[in-house]
Amino acid sequence: MTLEQSVIFDLIEKANDARKHAYTPYSEFKVGAALLLKNGEIVTGCNIENSAFSPTNCAERTAFFKAISEGERDFVAIAVVGGKKEIPESFAFPCGVCRQVMREFCEDDFQIIVAKTKQEYKIFTLPQLLPEGFGGGNIV
Ligand code: THU
Repeated sequence: MTLEQSVIFDLIEKANDARKHAYTPYSEFKVGAALLLKNGEIVTGCNIENSAFSPTNCAERTAFFKAISEGERDFVAIAVVGGKKEIPESFAFPCGVCRQVMREFCEDDFQIIVAKTKQEYKIFTLPQLLPEGFGGGNIV
């Protein structure tokens, strides 16, 4: 599905807004995500760090787990904005664990928008970021 420009802008804006809730006392690297559902709703998430480090949850997984725990299962796209500065200096790509969670719940046409601003973004499909991924269909 080709995303309309206005939808892309909305997702980037909401991902950036979600960064203000990030709990990042250790890295100060604030990430926000905005997940577009097939019904048009947008669910946001931020990263939530922990002094024990491994319990840290990424922004993308926060958004997915919020949506999934509300019974949502149909996902179209996610926008991710992250960095230490208010305007990120580089693109914050989803980590491997988040890509694997996307693999579990999304089809190959799921789109990942990594953005610094509304003017600077890149769009990938899930197989581009997770080629030859392992999914439920591989358990035979
Ligand atoms: N982080 C995310 O929220 N999403 C990613 O995909 C990569 C990393 C967070 C985790 C941690 O709080 C901070 O960024 C630095 O790694």
